[in-house]
Amino acid sequence: MVYLRAIHPDDRKSLREELFLKLSPESLRNRFFGMKLDLTPSELNYFTDVDFSHHVAFVAEVECDSHRRLVGVGRFVRGNGNSDHAEIAITVIDEFQGMGIGSLLLRQLINCARKLGVVQLEGSMFAKNTRMAKLLRRTRIPYRSSHESGMVSMSLDL
Ligand SMILES: CC(C)(COP(=O)(O)OP(=O)(O)OC[C@H]1O[C@@H](n2cnc3c(N)ncnc32)[C@H](O)[C@@H]1OP(=O)(O)O)[C@@H](O)C(=O)NCCC(=O)NCCS
Repeated sequence: MVYLRAIHPDDRKSLREELFLKLSPESLRNRFFGMKLDLTPSELNYFTDVDFSHHVAFVAEVECDSHRRLVGVGRFVRGNGNSDHAEIAITVIDEFQGMGIGSLLLRQLINCARKLGVVQLEGSMFAKNTRMAKLLRRTRIPYRSSHESGMVSMSLDL
């Protein structure tokens, strides 16, 4: 059973220890576009203390030994002035990838983005990150894509 809920500042510790520090080097590179050894306190604040208007984020949890373990996170951040364009990022820890959790987070983000009036949801990824590209294509929402220097940007027309 997977539970989705809004992220909260109290998730700082679990976001770092249960998710970030558990990611493989490949997943870290795919998410942060380079090697990243840790999250700073200010990054943890930024990632967890969100206003659900300009910056929206949800976590995915699974029940493990009678506690809920954080295994995924998805977010979008809108452009300046709460524009109708937003950037999304989704991360699921390696041992839980391929189970549909990324798709659940994406669906939740799309629903929320539509309610807030976002009309373009853009994901940037390495060209070789076919899993993220497939995740976006599987929504069957029309999209535009552009390629530049090994990166792909896919923009869903919500
Ligand atoms: C990209 C990423 C978010 C996808 O998340 P995910 O949870 O693995 O995605 P899903 O499980 O929903 O879908 C991926 C695969 O699982 C399959 N799947 C979906 N639902 C499923 C289910 N209920 N049961 C089994 N498999 C399922 C899909 O068919 C898909 O398979 P395929 O890509 O091999 O064809 C994840 O791989 C990740 O965190 N990667 C590292 C960070 C990253 O690259 N982020 C993107 C840039 S921001």
